[in-house]
Amino acid sequence: MLELRHLSKSYANARPVLANLSCRFEAGEFIAIMGDSGVGKSTLLNLIAGLDTPDAGESQPILVDGIAMSSLDDAAATRLRRSRMGFIFQAFHVLPHLTLLQNVALPLLLNGLPQERAASMLEAVGLGGRGGDFPQQLSGGEMQRVAIARALVHKPALVLADEPTGNLDPDTAHSILQLLRAEIKANGSCAIMVTHSLAAAEMADRTMILTKSGLQNATNFAQNTATFS
Ligand SMILES: Nc1ncnc2c1ncn2[C@@H]1O[C@H](COP(=O)(O)OP(=O)(O)O)[C@@H](O)[C@H]1O
Ligand SMILES: [Mg+2]
Repeated sequence: MLELRHLSKSYANARPVLANLSCRFEAGEFIAIMGDSGVGKSTLLNLIAGLDTPDAGESQPILVDGIAMSSLDDAAATRLRRSRMGFIFQAFHVLPHLTLLQNVALPLLLNGLPQERAASMLEAVGLGGRGGDFPQQLSGGEMQRVAIARALVHKPALVLADEPTGNLDPDTAHSILQLLRAEIKANGSCAIMVTHSLAAAEMADRTMILTKSGLQNATNFAQNTATFS
């Protein structure tokens, strides 16, 4: 459902961040990506999201359901993002002038879908009674749960999550990841979750490690954990 082909990214006057990544991610897969700070994990998610542009070279470095992101104009890329993707990024983009329920319902509204699922998603992240509240009344962890509910509400085919449990206590993190996992499996979606948490990575179907030399399956996870402890 997502294919990377010789994906590379460099910023001006710096060594390449990502060099020649090739990888496939299938529908229904929950993937964790780990790696040192600054190695390019967020850059990778931004590229997949179409929020940043890969280096020229490979003409079709990112394919979503066989469609090359590079072949889409801005409007078409926006439509693809809006209908097929869900984002749980560190910058939450929870809109301050909308209530929590309105925030979660936004992807449904933008896609012309019925609004009912917004309330049940808010409930699922433990904020069922808070739909009428505004974001400024929330803690960081609550804000993150709103962002997660909103990212999943329209059953996106591809969920991109950048340290989704970074602001959550371990119990809440576990229940949120159970929800994420259940949604992925129920909807046949693919989720790519960047995390520093071994407990979070253990909830995924497989873990990959991003290093300077590329993106590799963590085949011997126990051995790799030493790097992150
Ligand atoms: N917009 C940008 N301009 C220049 N350099 C950037 C930009 N965004 C990220 N970088 C650099 O790219 C590298 C990877 O960053 P990032 O993807 O945020 O790493 P990670 O998420 O793995 O911690 C870092 O060296 C960072 O400084
Ligand atoms: Mg990052």
